[in-house]
Amino acid sequence: MELVTGGTGVDFREVLENGNLLFFPDGGFEISREICQALTGEAQDARSVHKNIAYKPNADKVSGLKDARGADRVRHAMREYSRAALAFAARILPDYARAWKVDYASFRSIEERGRVLPLKKRNDLLHIDAFPTRPVFGDLILRCFTNVNPEQSREWQVSDGFALLAPREAEKAGLKQYAAMAGSPLHAVRRGLMRAFRAGGAPVVDRSPYDAFMLHFHDWLKGNREYQETAPKYRFDFPPGSTWLAFTDVVPHAVLGGRLAMEQTTIVSRGSLRNPASAPSAILEKMAGRSLIS
Ligand code: SIN
Ligand code: FE
Repeated sequence: MELVTGGTGVDFREVLENGNLLFFPDGGFEISREICQALTGEAQDARSVHKNIAYKPNADKVSGLKDARGADRVRHAMREYSRAALAFAARILPDYARAWKVDYASFRSIEERGRVLPLKKRNDLLHIDAFPTRPVFGDLILRCFTNVNPEQSREWQVSDGFALLAPREAEKAGLKQYAAMAGSPLHAVRRGLMRAFRAGGAPVVDRSPYDAFMLHFHDWLKGNREYQETAPKYRFDFPPGSTWLAFTDVVPHAVLGGRLAMEQTTIVSRGSLRNPASAPSAILEKMAGRSLIS
């Protein structure tokens, strides 16, 4: 696992797919001072009681803000960040951008050091990302982070990527049961029902066995003392103004300290990878000896 500085001669897809972080010390793209000030300004304290502030680019909507005062300013700033981050990521990763799905952006406004959260929500324990409400069906979660704090670094701890993580932990975490579920006729019936409910407008999540396993794996890793204690650990500090990208379902990560970071997520199609076999879904399917998507 490495922190690779972006520049000419670097194959960005290869870096990311191999479970490394892609780092731009100068931020990679322009964020106006006005935008940074809107995000880091005086009204911040009133907002910082909320977990995460989310921005949905496709709907131009912000959620997670309790205090309506300043909401327009935050929405405007997040929209600008989202646009700039997407344009930057599309420029450096055109092969992904052709087929990706634009997901949410977020504003991480609370100091992470000493933050008290329930186990499954803790950010300071190594984990891979999985979204309870937005299954990816074997595609990958690409996140672009920018530290907009003018003074303080954001401190990460990461571990070896999925190609090393899965052989070590996936069976222990119960991969076999999820693979068996994929093969069971009951599962097909359940998925059919889920789709019908969804088509009827019910708020149910139709997820693949892969998505179910990844959600479980996220929680299992956070709750597993042995993994937390013995996994290889690498520390990286991201200075003010820097940007970094990672497949956060490939790279186990934890944030130990820092506040005021922006982030934009895209869902990258497994088929657009330079090496589709490096997708977590492909690695698990190979281990399980069957498809975990359909
Ligand atoms: C996470 O995705 O676990 C948190 C990363 C961060 O906010 O720096
Ligand atoms: Fe995470």
